[in-house]
Amino acid sequence: MSTAAPEAGPATVQLRFADHDGQPLLAAIAPAGSRLIDVVRELARQGRLTLQWRCAQGTCGTCLVHLEHAGSGQPLQLTPMERNVLVRHGHLPAAANLTQIDEKQTPRLACHVRCSADLLIYIQKE
Ligand code: FES
Repeated sequence: MSTAAPEAGPATVQLRFADHDGQPLLAAIAPAGSRLIDVVRELARQGRLTLQWRCAQGTCGTCLVHLEHAGSGQPLQLTPMERNVLVRHGHLPAAANLTQIDEKQTPRLACHVRCSADLLIYIQKE
């Protein structure tokens, strides 16, 4: 039996926001594991960032973002709800898999993103 303590992840993650052309907008620190939409809502409340959102429940599809994970070589795993909302809004094809490539072109909904690693987040222009 091992007596080694399980490895703890980082307590915070670094989030960098950019517009869709890659122009930096804002850098922020967030608690690891927090939902991206909650971080965005707080930054918006502080007047530091603008991202359209409505439901904060993952169903309306308004909070579209694109991401690059720092150092991720892993595929992204969408939930069925996120996939279905993205398909309904035409951001993914109807036959899209739940597993997607971790690249900027892959659409995500901030309501469904957990900030478990440093992220570069591209937000839509208004
Ligand atoms: S605000 Fe509605 S899905 Fe994110």
